[in-house]
This record gives sequence, structure tokens and C-alpha cells, in this order.
Amino acid sequence: MAEEQTNRPAAVAEPAEPAGPETSPPASSPPAPSAVLPPQHWAEVAQNEEQGDVDADSTIDADNASSTASITSSIFEYRTIHGRTFNSDQGDAQYWGSNDEPQRELMDITHHILTIGLGDKLHLAPLDKAHVHQVIDIGCGTGIWAIDFADEYPGAEVIGTDISPIQPSWVPPNLKFEIEDCTRDWTFKSGFADYIHLRWLVGSIKDWDALCSEAFRVCKPGGWIESHEASSNIESDDGTVDGDSAMGQWGKFFIEGSKKIGSSFTVVEDGTQRKALEKAGFINIQEFNFRNPIGGWSSVPSERKMGPYTKYGLETDSEGFVLFMAHVLGWSRAEIQVYNAQFRRELRSGKHHGYFRQKVVWGQKPGAAAE
Ligand SMILES: C[S@@+](CC[C@H](N)C(=O)[O-])C[C@H]1O[C@@H](n2cnc3c(N)ncnc32)[C@H](O)[C@@H]1O
Repeated sequence: MAEEQTNRPAAVAEPAEPAGPETSPPASSPPAPSAVLPPQHWAEVAQNEEQGDVDADSTIDADNASSTASITSSIFEYRTIHGRTFNSDQGDAQYWGSNDEPQRELMDITHHILTIGLGDKLHLAPLDKAHVHQVIDIGCGTGIWAIDFADEYPGAEVIGTDISPIQPSWVPPNLKFEIEDCTRDWTFKSGFADYIHLRWLVGSIKDWDALCSEAFRVCKPGGWIESHEASSNIESDDGTVDGDSAMGQWGKFFIEGSKKIGSSFTVVEDGTQRKALEKAGFINIQEFNFRNPIGGWSSVPSERKMGPYTKYGLETDSEGFVLFMAHVLGWSRAEIQVYNAQFRRELRSGKHHGYFRQKVVWGQKPGAAAE
């Protein structure tokens, strides 16, 4: 992807550490897509496990310690899959992650991880605090980013939108939440927002061009948009994540499942954010790529900070991430559990130096105030 640039933007505070993988993305290409291994494979692996073939649990590594819906009862009608709650489909809107307490907790932990990845910043777009009045966080989840942003920008009015009513009620006075499906026409008037933030909508959007075109309409001339997305593939630069391992197969659930639900999980790999921003008309587009390691294997201090949290999240509730997609692929709960057990075993072994790619792309709406 020729247009991918990896320079750390001036807006990011340089952590006091040597330039390393955090400032330059992995040289390796994303893994070639292939079919997800059948569930029987994991039953066989588990059987071999019992015979002591592969990683044993005893090898746990040290760091293991018109879109606004009125809030009708239908919004609270969650779908239950194997005992976990998920948002029920609302029109085209569909979200693959569980919205129950374990996953909400992980959204908040993920926010911490991603903030570290951005050099302890909430955004990379060069916002001028004195001129940021209206801010929208699309698909805000638990609202954790919006809460932090509202605290940091007390002069701004921040609105977080989501299809799932999972936001807290005690929030900063300059923040409110609305139930809104971002895949439909937005209810915000044209030229309303100084800054529009979108994070981790991968797998939820069928038409990124339409989404960014709507954001362009709602953005003020001179205003900014920022899109932060993650790859679902777990990669390694040293060959420790094999394509047929449970970690190597992780992304395949999402990529294969997304073919069925029609919302891409290869947004990072395909350069979708930049393409959609350009097509919508945004200018001054920049991007920043970083690795989100799993476990404390990296020697780069910021990656070393992120890794144990990521590993904790995946170990604590890998099921909440993968359940919907595995279910879409026709796996039974027992089959999913066997896979997850192997996935956790690999995580705990500390032998696999996996990471997720993260890509942040930001751009400005042209107009009088644009640079
Ligand atoms: C992985 S979470 C990310 C939450 C938040 N952006 C963050 O980074 O902490 C994705 C969120 O997008 C929401 N979502 C999915 N489809 C949506 C849609 N069509 N409109 C609005 N929100 C949506 C989900 O309900 C979920 O809360």
C-alpha cells in the first residue's frame, strides 16, 4: 500500500525511548487471507495437548499477573448468543462484540491501551483548543474516550453516539450521549462539528465511503475528522505466530465471518480510512501506524506498557470478542470453547510475540479556516 506512511506525527509527544518498532511499523506484510481452520482441528489440538505435545499451562510467563432512535424498549432488547448479550440488529446496524459487562470493562481497558499507543494523547488531529466547540464521537461504546475528551476540553460540547445504550449517566456536564445509527443519515445539521472522532468501528460499517461522506457534511469547514481502526489479524515479526496456531487463526474468524455479515474487518489492511476520507473531500490527510503487542515481550517501553493489558483483555474474555463471529460461521459453543482454551494456552505460554496493527488517519474539511 504505497500511500501508507508511518511517520510519527508532530502532534505525538515522543516518549523518552529510542526509536523502535513503535515508530516504524512492522516490515512484514499482513498475512495472506486464508480460510479459517475447522472446529475439529481444535479438538485434535486439545487432545494432543493432553498428551503433552505443545505449550503447557505451567509455562505461564511473568507478565500474566434518520438515525436517532428514540430510546424505546427495542434498544434494550439484546440478542443472547450462548448466554452472552449482543445488540439486536437495528436496520443495517449490527455489532459483532458482546455488550455485556465483561466486554464493557475491556472497552475501557482498550481505551487505556490505545491512549498509550498515541503517546498518551486522546487525538492526533491538530486541534486548536480555543476553537473546538462541537465534538462528536461516533460509536462511542462505553463513552470512555468522550468522557476523557470532555474533561480535557471543558469549553467544548461533546456528543457520543452509539446504537447500544451502554454509557454511564454520571459524566462531565459538557458531554451527552445519543442513540444513533451512524450507517444511516446523521441527524446532525451540516457544518455542525469542529471535530468528529471514530474509533474501532471495524466490522460494523458496510459502506465507509457513505460514512465519511456524511461526516464531511456534518464537519465544519476547517474542522477535523479522525478515524482510529485496528486489524483483527495477530501478526509477529519473528515468526512466533504461526498461521495455523490459535493466535494465527484469530483474525480469520473475523475476516471469514465478515464476508457473511458484509462489514469488512480488513479496514487497516485495505487502507479504507484514507481512501474514504479522500473520496469524501477531506484534505491535509495524515496517518500514524503503531503496533499493539500482546504480552510484555517488546523492548520498546510504550509497547511493553500496552502488551500486558492487551494480553489480560484477551485472556479474560476472548469469548466475548470471537463468539459472535464463530457463531456466524456455524460453530457450536463447545467448539468455540475448545478453540478459546487453546488460544488462552498460547497467550499464557509467552512464546508468541503477537501484535495487532493500529492505524489512525485524520484529515481536515477544506474551507475558510482550513490550513
Ligand atoms: C469496539 S466498540 C468501540 C467503542 C469506542 N469507539 C471505543 O473506542 O472505545 C464499537 C462500538 O460501535 C458501536 N456501533 C456499531 N455499529 C454502530 C452503528 N451502526 N452506529 C453507531 N454505533 C455503532 C457498537 O455498539 C460499539 O459500542
